[in-house]
Amino acid sequence: MCGIIGVVQKNEKALGEKMGIIIRDSLKRLEYRGYDSVGYAIIDRNGRLVIRKAKGKIDDLLKRLEFERFDGLVGVGHTRWATHGPPSDLNAHPHTDCSRCIAIVHNGVIRNYQELRDELASRGHMISSDTDTELIAHLIEDYLREGFEMIDALRMIMRKIDGSYAFLVISCRETDKIYFAKKISPLIIGLGEGFNLISSDIPGLIKYSRKIIAIEDGELGYISPEKIYIENIYGERIDPLSRVKIIDWTIEQIERGGYPHYMLKEIYEQSIAVRNTLASVAEQIRDVINILLSDRDIFITGAGTSYHAALVMDYALKYYLGARSTAFISSEISLYKKIFDKKSVLIAISQSGETIDTLNALRTAKERGALIISLTNSVDSAISRESHYKLYIRAGPEIGVAATKTFTSQVTFLLYLVSELLREQDPDTGSLIKKELEESPELINRYIKKIDKESESLASILKDSRNIYVLGRDISLPVSMEGALKIKEISYIHAEAYPAGESKHGPIALVEKDFPVAFTSLGFEHNHVMVSNIEEMKARGAFIIAVAPYSDERIHRLADYSFLMPSMKTMAASILYVIPYQLLAYHLAVKRGFDPDKPRNLAKTVTVE
Ligand code: AGP
Repeated sequence: MCGIIGVVQKNEKALGEKMGIIIRDSLKRLEYRGYDSVGYAIIDRNGRLVIRKAKGKIDDLLKRLEFERFDGLVGVGHTRWATHGPPSDLNAHPHTDCSRCIAIVHNGVIRNYQELRDELASRGHMISSDTDTELIAHLIEDYLREGFEMIDALRMIMRKIDGSYAFLVISCRETDKIYFAKKISPLIIGLGEGFNLISSDIPGLIKYSRKIIAIEDGELGYISPEKIYIENIYGERIDPLSRVKIIDWTIEQIERGGYPHYMLKEIYEQSIAVRNTLASVAEQIRDVINILLSDRDIFITGAGTSYHAALVMDYALKYYLGARSTAFISSEISLYKKIFDKKSVLIAISQSGETIDTLNALRTAKERGALIISLTNSVDSAISRESHYKLYIRAGPEIGVAATKTFTSQVTFLLYLVSELLREQDPDTGSLIKKELEESPELINRYIKKIDKESESLASILKDSRNIYVLGRDISLPVSMEGALKIKEISYIHAEAYPAGESKHGPIALVEKDFPVAFTSLGFEHNHVMVSNIEEMKARGAFIIAVAPYSDERIHRLADYSFLMPSMKTMAASILYVIPYQLLAYHLAVKRGFDPDKPRNLAKTVTVE
């Protein structure tokens, strides 16, 4: 996700460097978050708003962006990770209002983007970029023109915009302040003597301050060189000093948000990632709904984790809509080649958007006349560029090689799409899926620490195992497959997912005393026979692990180790039920002495066939 930094100082010596250099260095320390464009705005000593921005990496843009040239008392900087609009000079932040007096940088996704854009355009605003961020600058412009103070304008805008955001605003009319507002996306103030800073992330400000204040959701305010002002959306003042914390982490620890590994950070970030996915899915899928409801053959493809997300969608389409959809592993395209024609639609799923197997599948289907819809995390990737319809999960950059938050965001997106497809046929089920998806971020927050502890103690039991089966039926199968993939790629324990009912047709031959067998049951699928499958394994001495609703006593009574999961009624449960496996894989890797962020022989993006 985007990185933001704001600096305000009493005089040009307060921080010992030129403003441009301070911003450049802070942005360098935010690079690890992933980005495609850079920009900054400074109000110079003549009160002039200077803006420099471009697509590309900081080191390649040093000359063009002239960081060393500009100084001033107030400035904001931004590393953009594209969400609305492809990476380009124009879409890079900061963005301005029509008068070019206000500059804004933003991290997050505005959900009611289209509505706001239409409204502003009808009032005559010149909107020059494709971004959601620019709209906030124009909204501010309108309120200021009506005579409101900046703080009141921001409060009203927070009520008007829907989605996730942390944004910073500077104005040529108030050259000693940086205004801010926050919902969901992180925002942190760093305190100094004669200066203050504000950033999306501690690394952005750590060189100058270890005294920080974390801004909470629904809060807004401003920083000036000597003052911090915070209030909530109801206008109630908040005492900033009651919130001050001292940071004693190393820079490395800070980049991982205090987590020992990116993988763990990303597992914990899932509630935010799912929220961000939900913030933009409705607006994105408008055009593809009718295509999927028309009389077309639906194919869904991906590799690895993205294939498992494809399977979840395939199961949902069949189970809820009775659709004749087909999910296939993208490298297996040759098998399906002759089936594609003008009546086909292919949904190509890929976190990176660069996986060559998935790109090849897309090209093959396209050549035969199929309509291509892509679902990626990276904007403007090869896969999205070659698709007719480009959809984005907007989960933020994923640095760990093991896909975690991008899987749950993919599933969120695809199940939301299915819920919309049910609008005519079964609106009640559609609404129920949507409701459970919307509840998921909160459920993740509520359960994740407990699951983490339980996974860690299970990892202590299993760390010397050589094999693990992960069994499931129906929708529990793709979740089990994803669980097994996580375990094998990170901990190097052979983990095999299998349909629970099929386990007695072969895999059971391997089972002997203490052989670990995990059973996934989301609770609502046809799992009544799962109990017999567990009994069969138990009779051979298997060590039974259950990931099942807490209410499913039959399963938990048979288990040697239980994850008591919340009871849910729809396939949205697959988001929460994969987390025990992600965390088990993580703890197994750590206990076995491996680096979970960099598993051997694997690359984050696989661009070879
Ligand atoms: C997942 O943990 C893996 N690292 C891998 O299977 C991955 O999902 C696969 O390579 C597909 O990548 P993509 O989503 O970027 O296309």
